[in-house]
Amino acid sequence: MAPPLKIGIAGLGTVGAGVVRMLARRADAISARVGRPVEVVAVSARNRARDRECDLSGMRWYDDAVELARDPDIDVFVELIGGPDGIAKAAVEAAIAAGHSVATANKALLAHHGVELAAAAEAAGVALHFEAAVAGGIPVIKTLREALLGNEIARVSGILNGTCNYILTRMQEEGLSFDTCLDQAQKLGYAEADPTFDVDGFDTAHKLALLAALAFGVKPDPEAIHVEGIRSITLADIEAADELGYRIKLLGVAARIGGQVELRVHPTMVPKHWPIAQVSGVTNAVAIDGDAVALTLVGPGAGGDATASAVVADLCDVAAGRGGAPLGWRAASLQPAEKAAIRRHEGGYYIRLAAVDRPGTAAAIARHMAEQNISLESIMQHRRGRPHGGERAESAEDPAPVVLVTYATNEDAVRRAIDAIEIDGVIALPPQVIRIEKD
Ligand code: HSE
Repeated sequence: MAPPLKIGIAGLGTVGAGVVRMLARRADAISARVGRPVEVVAVSARNRARDRECDLSGMRWYDDAVELARDPDIDVFVELIGGPDGIAKAAVEAAIAAGHSVATANKALLAHHGVELAAAAEAAGVALHFEAAVAGGIPVIKTLREALLGNEIARVSGILNGTCNYILTRMQEEGLSFDTCLDQAQKLGYAEADPTFDVDGFDTAHKLALLAALAFGVKPDPEAIHVEGIRSITLADIEAADELGYRIKLLGVAARIGGQVELRVHPTMVPKHWPIAQVSGVTNAVAIDGDAVALTLVGPGAGGDATASAVVADLCDVAAGRGGAPLGWRAASLQPAEKAAIRRHEGGYYIRLAAVDRPGTAAAIARHMAEQNISLESIMQHRRGRPHGGERAESAEDPAPVVLVTYATNEDAVRRAIDAIEIDGVIALPPQVIRIEKD
């Protein structure tokens, strides 16, 4: 049997400790299948004393991840520190410079610096694998990089953030507030250290940037993505969506439209009967539309074991000598991603207005929609007093929630109509606009 593949792991949180445990538990099966043992020989973390429920005996300990990355007696450096810059970036650069392959779960690092790191890995002849960076345990990187190579991809879309999907699911199923659900997601360990990254859509955008690179050969570039998070979604929207036959999901979408790749992340209303609408909790889903194969992958998007499973798969690939261009295309051949022109987006829209409850309001709203040539599929007005959902006694001063659903139109027309409605003073709170995906 070939000599062991020696691993150094920086970051021993739930994922790092999970990798150590999984490699120990599956040692015999892994070495039998990849032709050599895969052994963790060195680790680095902030707190040496913490009990991680994994056996670290016999492993070299480093306080400094960059020093671990330079250890001449490792073959692969596993980066589980996180963050787009700082120690994570310095350590990955040091590992590649030292001729070590890298496996990382760091989507922020690769979304911001993927092109230069991939180029460095290609030049050094080492692997840079990142299956764990996108959709946790779902093998979507391998699917795009290898399994669907024969396909021309038209669109990749999905639920890429477990925290957001968990929050939206619990709001919908249990009528809980956004804050309560976020708190739970943090306690369960799904959320990023700074949950802003989850709920404001940046985590999804980082993952989408990597999927778009693999699918379309565009440089990962978070700046090119139109990003909206889920903070503005209220129980009123969740209830209205339900009544209208939709679920609200935070989707990341990369689609080839004409000669361009449109990249966007935003809450989206999807018909209840679509498979993606039924993906609940921390589960992720990625739908890939190829010219030969269209498929949807569904699986755990966050959590220690699921993410560790993806890291271990990357390590097995290195052990078996499976590599290739990290981003699926040579780094030098990647094309710049163009900023999504969201005002040109076409589709149906859900618009919720807190209408001032007096004569003429409905007429004003309808007039401004008509002026922009927007045709309405449905109009729904609830009784006063629930501008953000929930129950309380109504007051004559309360606005009346009006929900409009448009037929296919474009975003520019919708924004112009809403601007005009706001100028008329017939709405009491900022409007809510959610894009709709339909059959
Ligand atoms: N915070 C991320 C999520 C973890 O909620 O999906 C996995 O990237």
